[in-house]
Amino acid sequence: MRDIIRRVDRCRVCGNDDWLEVMSLGSTPLANGFLDPAPAYPDEPVYPVDVIACRRCWLMSLRHVVDPQVLFTHYVYLTSESDQMAQHMRRIVEWSTRKLGLTAGDLVVELGSNIGTQLEIFAAAGLRTVGVDPARNLARIANDRGVETVADFFGPHVAGPIAQKHGRAKLVLGRQCFAHIDDVHHVLDGVDAVLAPDGALAIEVPYLVDLLDQNQFDTIYHEHLSYYSLGTLGRLFESHGLRLVDVERADVHGGSIVAFASRPTVRPPAPSVSRLLALEEERGLSTGRPYQDLADRTRKVVDNVGGLVRDLVASGKRVAGYGAPSKGHALLQACGLDRKEIEFVTDTTPLKQGKVWAGNLIPVFTPEQARSRPPDYYLLLAWNYSSEVIRKEHEFLAQGGRFIVPIPQPRIVAEPEPARRYA
Ligand code: TMP
Ligand code: ZN
Repeated sequence: MRDIIRRVDRCRVCGNDDWLEVMSLGSTPLANGFLDPAPAYPDEPVYPVDVIACRRCWLMSLRHVVDPQVLFTHYVYLTSESDQMAQHMRRIVEWSTRKLGLTAGDLVVELGSNIGTQLEIFAAAGLRTVGVDPARNLARIANDRGVETVADFFGPHVAGPIAQKHGRAKLVLGRQCFAHIDDVHHVLDGVDAVLAPDGALAIEVPYLVDLLDQNQFDTIYHEHLSYYSLGTLGRLFESHGLRLVDVERADVHGGSIVAFASRPTVRPPAPSVSRLLALEEERGLSTGRPYQDLADRTRKVVDNVGGLVRDLVASGKRVAGYGAPSKGHALLQACGLDRKEIEFVTDTTPLKQGKVWAGNLIPVFTPEQARSRPPDYYLLLAWNYSSEVIRKEHEFLAQGGRFIVPIPQPRIVAEPEPARRYA
């Protein structure tokens, strides 16, 4: 039998084996598991979430890797249909065409293309597209909606046939998937096999600086193996003959970067690259301090959020969760909260509704169900959409409901008191 878990000894970017032990978030079930309702699931496997940082290239990483076949061949994460994400995806097309000079008829290959939402926008701009995603359930949805998608893990064995059938890609894009990849060198070998000589690679990852600044410890769970700075990403690209040429910060998934790289001499690096590298240097990312600080702050936030919710419940208030994202699972787990405290979570994703969340066994309600029994407090688990959610839920607030936004520090959002008028 294959091992379901692999211990990381050597850094996946630089090969070093000297690690700083950052913190342990305990052993937990997989965050993206949604089960049929049952009173208990006693044999559910748990896997450790231990955080380490490479003392040479300062990649922050998990110590253990869960077999990607287990995590990704059936996947319930669908590209978000939020307004914010739709706008971001249009911006990706705009950046790619402006910065890289893509024109109609050029080929875009996307790794981790999910149900094809991003590629549809490229296609509408006249580009040819091919997606690759290991989740067979998602690739089927994408193909059904007319976005050609290969259901496989990306690598040279997939990239070669794409290049033969469609020619070479002017853009290889990987949005929010690179952090999930263990053998990044295998994937970059695949990029080499399909990228045109003057093409570009664009990789979008949650940004380590935002994670540190906002105490986003809940984004640390089994699927996210790596937590990248631009410096570490650039070092990885360079080991495959690619050089950073541009970077953008984007307000998605709690703060991300989109890093663009090309083969040397294709295009000169934009000033944005050295600016962000300088910021990382200033923040001391190549020292142990910011990682140790994160561990200290995480302990405090975990205590504060857990304590706040337990106090509310003890005083008779009803608390539910808003959104059932993987990071919400990680947050509840770290704070020791489960269905004893959290009555339900509400989520717009049909695949999650009617199920219970693995581990904590909290039921997932549709928004309609949730509206019929509003809690006193919603713990905002999908905090990356906080402004969108708070705007959307004005009625809940107007009726006296409150949101708890858990990070960077827990804070309570209530409807502002209407201004009093004096005659
Ligand atoms: P994500 O941060 O990984 O995109 O996940 C967000 C989750 O929150 C996803 O399961 C959908 C859910 N969600 C809602 O239920 N209501 C909302 O208004 C928004 C924006 C997200
Ligand atoms: Zn390293």
